[in-house]
Amino acid sequence: MILKHKAIGLIIGGGIAAYKSLDLIRRLQDCGAAVHVILTPAAQQFVTKLSAAALSHLPVQSSLFEGEHSEDINHIALVNKLDLIIVAPATANRLASTAAGLAQDFAGALLLAATCPVLFAPAMNPNMWAKPQIQRAIHRLQQDGYAFIGPNSGAMAEKHCEGMGRMSEVPEIVSKTKQLLLPKATPITNQELTSQELKGKKFIVTTGATLEPIDPVRYISNYSSGKQGFAIAEALQKRGASVVVVCGIVSAAAPKHIELVHVTTAAEMLDAVTEQLPADGAIFAAAVCDWRVATAADQKLKKQGETMQLHMVKNPDILQIIATSPGRPKLVVGFAAETENHLVNARAKLHAKQADIIIVNNVAGADSAFNSDYNQISIVEATGEQHLPKLSKQELGQKLTDFIITAYNNL
Ligand code: CTP
Repeated sequence: MILKHKAIGLIIGGGIAAYKSLDLIRRLQDCGAAVHVILTPAAQQFVTKLSAAALSHLPVQSSLFEGEHSEDINHIALVNKLDLIIVAPATANRLASTAAGLAQDFAGALLLAATCPVLFAPAMNPNMWAKPQIQRAIHRLQQDGYAFIGPNSGAMAEKHCEGMGRMSEVPEIVSKTKQLLLPKATPITNQELTSQELKGKKFIVTTGATLEPIDPVRYISNYSSGKQGFAIAEALQKRGASVVVVCGIVSAAAPKHIELVHVTTAAEMLDAVTEQLPADGAIFAAAVCDWRVATAADQKLKKQGETMQLHMVKNPDILQIIATSPGRPKLVVGFAAETENHLVNARAKLHAKQADIIIVNNVAGADSAFNSDYNQISIVEATGEQHLPKLSKQELGQKLTDFIITAYNNL
């Protein structure tokens, strides 16, 4: 519910990708946002006002001269509520008219009156995308401070047509939305740096739980809070490293100086980590769901019969993929969340995942590391192991960073 209390205006333009925007409504709602849909007249050739209203649970606007706000001008009443406007699909026509400052319809008037950030997700035929008029419009909009996601390259709706112009996928748009709406990291000051041993080194830290959807209202996840990953990230940064946290679902507050990339599923986490490479070190503290439902249902699953089965498939092992990839960071540190045979299991993970270090912690019973401010860990390397006493996650962040610096320098 990371976008709780956020109001998003979603302008759906007239393109075949409009159907994806219906899913976007649900995914933004999953994050807690209220989604006010504006359906352009052309979009109504692809999706209906009824489906947009049913999904968003809010009135859908399309014309400048409709609605019940007799005392207010509709688009002005709406614009004052919004924290962000997303235009998806953003057609060639919409990009050109916004760059020219035209307010020819409700969406145009809303964009012109907007005081919040605006995110365009363009979608069009590759020839249209390549036209200098459109490229000029995009350049101008970027200079004016508008944000963009995509387009991607791939197969078009038209037969035998491929190229640049596919609208970004819904998870990509959601992740960009989070980036735009969530507070930015404030730069760390020199006084806050304790030392500079890691100056010039980039570290990626994964933290939190991944969430794997079952249907629009249900999911599979775990109790990870994100605290330990945040504490390590903060400690690494204080030692001079530049740190990016790829952050799943967390209940702990994020440190204010750290750059965050928000993700939901394991697949998104793998993409986000890969995008951050090259890096000098990577710490995989996230509790990644090992399984996902093969195909999450589009509609809420109804209660039928006495039992129910989910068909699940294995998620990518992010740590293992990155540790065995050609772009492997010099130092790779994993965690092992165990409920029994802690050291044996940790050593097996060290080998199987090709990590340099595995930090093993207990996630069962009263001493579980999940959702606690304390943690008791052992550090397992190929050459031996160390056992640390129970410490606060903050203190452990610092101790682990000492250990990481030594291990990094010894590699
Ligand atoms: N991990 C990962 N991707 C996965 C699963 C785990 O990157 N799909 C990483 C975790 O971030 C952690 C390490 O692998 O650093 C071990 O995670 P853990 O949950 O302890 O082990 P699993 O590999 O999931 O194995 P098992 O559930 O059988 O213990």
